[in-house]
Amino acid sequence: MNIFVFLGAPGSGKGTQAKRLSETKKYHHFSTGDMLRAAIRADAPLGKKAQGYIKKGELVPDDIMIGLIEDALSCLDNSSQVILDGFPRTVPQAEALDKKVSTTVNSAIFFDIPHSELIERLSGRRTCSQCGESYHIDFSPPKKPNLCDKCDGDLIHRPDDKVDVVKKRLEVFTKQNDGLLKYYGNRRNLNTINANKPIETVESELKQYLQ
Ligand code: AP5
Repeated sequence: MNIFVFLGAPGSGKGTQAKRLSETKKYHHFSTGDMLRAAIRADAPLGKKAQGYIKKGELVPDDIMIGLIEDALSCLDNSSQVILDGFPRTVPQAEALDKKVSTTVNSAIFFDIPHSELIERLSGRRTCSQCGESYHIDFSPPKKPNLCDKCDGDLIHRPDDKVDVVKKRLEVFTKQNDGLLKYYGNRRNLNTINANKPIETVESELKQYLQ
């Protein structure tokens, strides 16, 4: 199984790019954040365990996240091409992924962007309350105000996109990120992309790394 891991701060554009790429049907896209939010919407046991952490901007414990990704990958065949968006977030998660039989992390792609840009991105992000599709009021607006293009669901401002929680998420990200960059750097499969460019430019640069 060929795996591409997207690393980067909250709001760096991992989800936007992963969704665009998965529309080509070439890649299976797993966003751990979307999976957790779907579990919360469904009032599932996973959602009950995760919601307190997400609300505070903290990481959900490694054992829960590793189990979630192992289950998701176990449904795929060995020839699959996979984008992991938001996983791994810690070195133990990266180690668990590498230990999984038949998986190879082909490339870890780090979305590099100054943190000063992220508040604007996250304060303008709107997310569909039904299907989880994400928009930006200025950079990627929906066709009809406050309604999802895909399912007509209402768009909301994610509770963890409020400024005080974003600050906590950035703090948590900064604490974990150096270890992850070192981990993939030592394996010589780390690529860095300048994520502070328009969505289409980032997408075309990203495609070069995925080939
Ligand atoms: P998660 O949902 O994964 O949040 P995140 O990593 O903080 O990432 P985001 O979804 O905020 O950002 P993104 O990089 O995808 O940005 P996007 O493309 O939407 O996780 C949420 C929580 O779940 C975590 O805090 C944690 O509690 C838990 N969790 C998840 N995974 C976990 C794990 N593995 N371990 C433990 N806990 C875990 O873009 C943002 C905005 O900018 C959008 O509005 C978009 O339209 C706009 N935009 C995107 N690209 C551009 C561009 N190039 N130019 C201008 N605007 C752009």
